[in-house]
Amino acid sequence: MRTIAIINQKGGCGKTTVVINLAASLAQHDRRTLLIDIDPQSHCAVGLAVPEDQIERNIYDVLISAFSDSKTDLKSIIWQIAQHFDLAPSGIELAALEPQLAGQDHREECLKNVLQEQAGHYDYVVIDCPPSVGLLTFNALRAADEVIIPVETGYFALHGLAKQLETLTVLREQCRQEICFRVLATMYDVRTKLAREVLNELRKHYGPEMFQSVINFNTKLKEAASFGQAITEYDPASKGMRDFMALAQEIIQTEPAQKEQERIVSVEDQLKAISKSADELLSESKKLIGAKPAGSRPRPAASIQEKIDTLYGVRQNQGQVEFVALYPSATSVQLAGDFNNWEPEQTPLAPAGDNGRWNVRLPLPTGRYHYRYVVDGRWQPDPYNECTEPNPFGEYNSVVEVK
Ligand SMILES: Nc1ncnc2c1ncn2[C@@H]1O[C@H](COP(=O)(O)OP(=O)(O)OP(=O)(O)O)[C@@H](O)[C@H]1O
Ligand SMILES: [Mg+2]
Repeated sequence: MRTIAIINQKGGCGKTTVVINLAASLAQHDRRTLLIDIDPQSHCAVGLAVPEDQIERNIYDVLISAFSDSKTDLKSIIWQIAQHFDLAPSGIELAALEPQLAGQDHREECLKNVLQEQAGHYDYVVIDCPPSVGLLTFNALRAADEVIIPVETGYFALHGLAKQLETLTVLREQCRQEICFRVLATMYDVRTKLAREVLNELRKHYGPEMFQSVINFNTKLKEAASFGQAITEYDPASKGMRDFMALAQEIIQTEPAQKEQERIVSVEDQLKAISKSADELLSESKKLIGAKPAGSRPRPAASIQEKIDTLYGVRQNQGQVEFVALYPSATSVQLAGDFNNWEPEQTPLAPAGDNGRWNVRLPLPTGRYHYRYVVDGRWQPDPYNECTEPNPFGEYNSVVEVK
């Protein structure tokens, strides 16, 4: 059983959206998945159309059981959402847990103890956390083997980084266990230069601590939540679905042998690494963005425009097509498409400098081509090209029209 907590003290960065749709996508991959909501806002029940007035007991009752006479076990509060997909809902009472347990020993281990009894029932447990660092988040951290930090790839994401650094420092002090932290770029809009720049900076600084998968901004994800459905049910043909299936796949690929190998020895080392890179990223972002003029929309400083002119993606120039991608932690990047018979070894990309850029130029005649990158053996669409088409394997190919 792998337990993954989704944590970021920044409100509205997409935690609940990630939790719901990741859980649904893992279930689609036939993984028995339990979503535990420990945010008193109870957004998971809302987002999955579980009627609030029919939730008699919730995760609060389970967590408080260790300290009270009335016992509630986890199984008794679970709602089945879909095949392989269960929900343990939250409730507003959770907001009172911290003051109620003040001074109690092991109060940060309630969730961990509850989950230990579930080992064997589920392949994955994913935990939605509140946008704050307190007893509930520490419970999630104690219970988790892995943590996903969703980072919104917009102006405000960079603004929130300083706060996130504080969180990491607090977590570092509190947490003394092996745990794997990874950053996930969310609400990514490839059409905006700033989002591309932010993603590039995140990739450069977080490297292997960053998921290759990116969650694009997709209104279908918003709509799905308002209809009380995961994207797997609401619109399986959407870009949102594609992104979450890719993320689930990326997580599944690290079960279980690879996971051990990739694990960082202590949480302290890993948090130090993340904090260090976040520091660098913060100072870089300050340089890039400059001060926000009062009362107006944030505008990038001139330097960002210059930097952004170096675009990633596909460019056409004098009969040649250039594919440029940013994969700072990759050791091999290849290109496969209908122009090379889908044989990636025919078209390796070369590192362009030492900044993580890879590129290759091809003399392609006029036409419409489908392609994918193969990064360290893993097939994926071009994250810098929003033009895609579904392929027969239920995934997506990138498309380029050569004129
Ligand atoms: N990839 C996305 N594309 C479009 N909309 C998104 C995406 N991710 C999240 N949203 C929307 O952004 C809003 C905030 O997302 P969400 O509720 O998941 O954030 P959160 O981090 O859980 O918030 P909180 O901190 O309050 O718990 C919601 O309206 C959600 O539908
Ligand atoms: Mg939330």
